Amino acid sequence: MEAIRFSQNTLYLLDQTRLPTEEVWRSYRDYRPVAEAIRTMVVRGAPAIGCAAAYAMALAAMEFEGKPDYAEHMAQAERVLADSRPTAVNLFWALERMRPLWQAGAGSERLCRAAVAIHQEDAAMCRAMGEYGAALIPDHARILTHCNAGALATGGYGTALGVVRAAFAQGKVEMVYCDETRPLLQGARLTAYELTADGIPATLITDNMAGALMAQGKVDCVVVGCDRMAANGDFANKIGTYSVAVLAKHHNIPFYTALPSSTVDVSLPDGSGIVIEQRSPEEVLSFQGVQTGPAGVQVWNPAFDVTPHDLLSGIITEKGVLRPPFDAALAGLFEQ
Ligand code: MRU
Repeated sequence: MEAIRFSQNTLYLLDQTRLPTEEVWRSYRDYRPVAEAIRTMVVRGAPAIGCAAAYAMALAAMEFEGKPDYAEHMAQAERVLADSRPTAVNLFWALERMRPLWQAGAGSERLCRAAVAIHQEDAAMCRAMGEYGAALIPDHARILTHCNAGALATGGYGTALGVVRAAFAQGKVEMVYCDETRPLLQGARLTAYELTADGIPATLITDNMAGALMAQGKVDCVVVGCDRMAANGDFANKIGTYSVAVLAKHHNIPFYTALPSSTVDVSLPDGSGIVIEQRSPEEVLSFQGVQTGPAGVQVWNPAFDVTPHDLLSGIITEKGVLRPPFDAALAGLFEQ
């Protein structure tokens, strides 16, 4: 399964707002609608957003190469893309990786190659995470996950679901419990869809069922994704991740996050500095056009929360599994 393709100077995105009922591919030759696609979550998930932004910069280079004010146009394209969503650091990481190229005057061909490399590297990092993470999964595992950190959210294969896929291939997975993940239902619409498509046993639960499931002894470990991790291991992920982490701690269940090193933001000493995206009240007040709350009521709708590092049992990366103390382990990740 994949969500991003690039061929013949065109970016194709699988519209994730339409899943699981419709598989609609959208095509892009202009960076501006790609920024809009990120904002409206046609493409979503931290690494996938980074890949899409890199391709969008290549599209901008196609539009502006040969013009005298090339660098100014490219800087403007970067600003528009950077404004799309604030929390996942992979977006900014990808834009930073593309920047020296266009600043040095490289044109679209070079930027296309760089974007393809970012995309392919991300998929490869997911495979590596899968292998390292699978070693943590016990036999007959019943794994709980939140939101979607799968092939749809990455360059391919997935971070948390990469671990699930690798463990399943080793015959270790008895069941994956998917939190539906209100308000936009990425767990129901995307994770349950990915898993069933791959023949991996999946059970969908509403978010408020996770505690009861754990209390009945039906969860052996939790694996989630990550949108931005601070230098001490505090990390932002989909709203509700923190609640799952607290529940896991209470029930003595190992709780892991899986992420590529491009999701680590060493400029932030801890999670308090992570900007949390606030989204429209409409997402909570209604669902797919059906009103679910009274008009005029106030709504709080943060897209992410921050889980403190002391609730984490381990961090699964493409270079191996990090154990506490996480600040030293994360620093070491960039020294290797
Ligand atoms: O708002 P979303 O759907 O972009 O949020 C996605 C998540 O929170 C994922 O868990 C995270 O990006 C990791 S994806 C490998």
